[in-house]
Amino acid sequence: MIKPHGSEDLLPRLASAERAAALRAEAERLPSLVVSSAAAANAVMLASGYFTPLPGYMSLDEARSVADEMKLLSGLFWPVPVLNVVRASDLPEGLEIGGRLALRDPNVEGAPLLAVMKVESIDTLDDDTREHITERVYGTTDREHPGVKTFAEAGDRVLGGTVDVLGTSYFGDEFPDTFRTAGQIRDAIEKLGWQRVVAFQTRNPMHRAHEALCKMAMEAVSADGVLIHMLLGKLKPGDIPAAVRDAAIRELVDGYFPAGSVMIAGYGFDMLYAGPREALLHAVFRQNAGCTHLIVGRDHAGVGSYYGAFDAQEIFETLPAGALEIQIFAADHTAYSKKLGKVVMLRDAVDHDKSDFVFLSGTKVRDMLSAGEDLPPEFSRPEVSAILKAHYSKA
Ligand code: ADX
Repeated sequence: MIKPHGSEDLLPRLASAERAAALRAEAERLPSLVVSSAAAANAVMLASGYFTPLPGYMSLDEARSVADEMKLLSGLFWPVPVLNVVRASDLPEGLEIGGRLALRDPNVEGAPLLAVMKVESIDTLDDDTREHITERVYGTTDREHPGVKTFAEAGDRVLGGTVDVLGTSYFGDEFPDTFRTAGQIRDAIEKLGWQRVVAFQTRNPMHRAHEALCKMAMEAVSADGVLIHMLLGKLKPGDIPAAVRDAAIRELVDGYFPAGSVMIAGYGFDMLYAGPREALLHAVFRQNAGCTHLIVGRDHAGVGSYYGAFDAQEIFETLPAGALEIQIFAADHTAYSKKLGKVVMLRDAVDHDKSDFVFLSGTKVRDMLSAGEDLPPEFSRPEVSAILKAHYSKA
C-alpha cells in the first residue's frame, strides 16, 4: 500500500485510553485555553493520522517556511501551515515555553478537554507577517475571502508544539457512519484488497458531474474503488450542511454506482477555501488515508473568483519530484451534453458549443431549490434533488 507522507507508518496523535486518562488528570493542574475551531480541526486531523508526520502545531518559523517554500523545517513537503493561533487576551496565566497546556474544544458543549500540548514556541504574529503568510497560502489578502477572514480574526499569538489528542471532537458522535480516521480507511482498503484507490474530495452534495468525475477517474486510472471523502467540518454560510450532503451522497451511491466500488467516509476539518494550496493538502491527507490518486477538477477548493479554474491542477506540476507519492487525476470542466445525452468533459466534446451543455451555477441551484423547484434531471439525480429541496424548504 502507498506509504504515508514522509513516514513509513501512520502517526496519529490520538492518545490511547490509558494515556487519555492520565492526560485528563494532568490537565486539571494545567493552564487551559479554549482554542479556535480551526485549531480544534487541526487537532482532530492530527489525531486521525491525516496530518502524518506532523507531531503538532507549527511554530511561526515553520509556518513561514511552509508558506514560502512549502517545506517543513525538516525539508519535507507541506503545503499549508497547521497552526494554533490565539488572541493575546485569551492566553492563560502560567503559560510558558516548555510548559504544558490544556486545549479545550470550542465546538462541543462545555468546552471539554480536546488535547494537551507541550508549548515549544510562543510567537507574535505581526500584521506584515500575517499578510505575507495569507498572500502565499490563499493567493489573496482580501478579507471577503472566507478562509482569509478566519485567519485574520484568529488572533496574534502562535503557539507551536506537539500535541496528544484525546478524541476526535464532535465528528464521531455526529457522523458515526461517516467519520473515519486515516488509519480506519487504510484498514478498510486493505480488507477490500484494493490496490489503486482514487479519492474524491467534496464539500458539496454530489450532482451528476461529480458522479461522472468519479466514474471517469476510476476508469482512467484503473482504480479498484473510489473513496468519496467529504469534509465534515465548518463551512461558509450558504454551503450545504454535512448531514444533508451525507444523505444525498449515500442515495446517489446506492442508486448509481456499481455495488462494492465505493467507500464513503468523512474527515473532521474546517474548509479553508485555499484553492491550489488546499488541493495539495487534500493530496497529502488522501495519501495518508491510503489512496493512490486524487481527483482535482475545476476550481477545486475554490471560492468566488479568487482562483483560476485549473490553478489547483497546475500547482501539482510545480512540485519537486518525489514531494508526494499520490498522483492526481486532473479533470476538465464536466457537464451534461444534450447532444450526447450524458455527462462528459468539455475537452472530450470538441464539436460542442456552450449551448449544447446543461450548466447551472451554484447561485442558480440555490435559487431553484429555495423556490421549491426540482433540479433538472440532467444536472442532478432526482433522489439528490429531493433531499436538497427538503433541506431548503426547512431553511
Ligand atoms: S471542493 O471545494 O470540495 O473542491 P466540490 O465538492 O464542489 O468542492 O468539488 C469536488 C471536486 O469536484 C473538486 O475536485 C472539483 O474541482 C470537482 N468539480 C466539481 N464540479 C465540477 C465540474 N462541473 N467539472 C469538473 N470538476 C468539478
